[in-house]
Amino acid sequence: MRLTDAFKEAGAGQWVTDDFCANDFAAAMMGAAEVVSDPTFWALRFDVAADDADRWSDALLDAGALSVDAADPFAGTDGESPIFGEPSEAPRGWWHVTRLTALCGNDADPATLVRSAAGVLAAAEPPFERYRVPDRDWVRATQAQFTPLRVTDALWIVPSWCAPPCPDATNILLDPGLAFGTGAHPTTRLCLRFLADELKDHESVLDYGCGSGILAIAAAKLGAGRVTGVDIDPQAIRASIDNARANRVRARFVHVDALADERFAIVVANILANPLRALAPVLAARTEDGGRIALSGILAAQADAVARDYTSSFDIAAHAEDDGWVLLTGIRRSGN
Ligand SMILES: C[S@@+](CC[C@H](N)C(=O)[O-])C[C@H]1O[C@@H](n2cnc3c(N)ncnc32)[C@H](O)[C@@H]1O
Repeated sequence: MRLTDAFKEAGAGQWVTDDFCANDFAAAMMGAAEVVSDPTFWALRFDVAADDADRWSDALLDAGALSVDAADPFAGTDGESPIFGEPSEAPRGWWHVTRLTALCGNDADPATLVRSAAGVLAAAEPPFERYRVPDRDWVRATQAQFTPLRVTDALWIVPSWCAPPCPDATNILLDPGLAFGTGAHPTTRLCLRFLADELKDHESVLDYGCGSGILAIAAAKLGAGRVTGVDIDPQAIRASIDNARANRVRARFVHVDALADERFAIVVANILANPLRALAPVLAARTEDGGRIALSGILAAQADAVARDYTSSFDIAAHAEDDGWVLLTGIRRSGN
């Protein structure tokens, strides 16, 4: 997934607040009592055509910007254009009009920085906006965005710095980290609801593409028997092991190549449409006869094509949809 999706994951979701988190959020967003010694940065922003976004970003960084952010100027409005990337597809490029925001130090002069970048590109200096960005305790400010997330009445995802709003529910303790999977993204939520509704006690579960381990941990907490998570990313395996330990659940996490020759009653895979299509024979081989599969990371327009690749081994159909993402579920037929 693109970085923009990761940011959406961080911002999206049905967050609820308890008092602690609400106060924390207000304090962090206002910067109250949090401004640290070097008080401000400069930010400058201007819009460029999609074809110019990369070269302007590079030129701004070369001219001394600390970071450059590229965004849709219409984000948050009806004119927003989401960009979704799929592995094995060429990158889709930037927005037709792309808004670049460069951050630079307190002692930098934004006008000089833009002039210098324009000089490198032999381009006209664009008109730009500048504004101050107060320094903050960024860890606290980031934490404040993550508050307990209700998946169902009986299943919650709770960051370690918040008290569980429903102590009697199944609470998964999970902090945002480098691996994907905080529970805020619709594709994860679809899988969590599937597990909450469908998992029977002691069933074995394979979480294929475990990311943070959130689905495997949920399965273990919901009463699964043997639980295994696999990923191609070593960072995901590390994060999953740490998260399972924090949740005191028994689950095994290994690199995808190290998975033993075993099958599972339930296989969940939240990846993306193209990898899921390529993985159809692999996931079929991992599912017990009569077992169930749940596939997520699929946009509504991609669902038929993914389902077709699984029909030789599964009776499969769309199970649920959330914010344009579809969950396919199927039952493994025996013999093929
Ligand atoms: C969208 S994240 C899902 C994480 C988590 N399971 C969730 O539901 O939030 C997809 C994960 O699949 C992993 N992945 C991608 N391609 C894979 C493949 N071919 N085999 C195994 N894992 C893969 C990625 O590294 C990433 O951690």
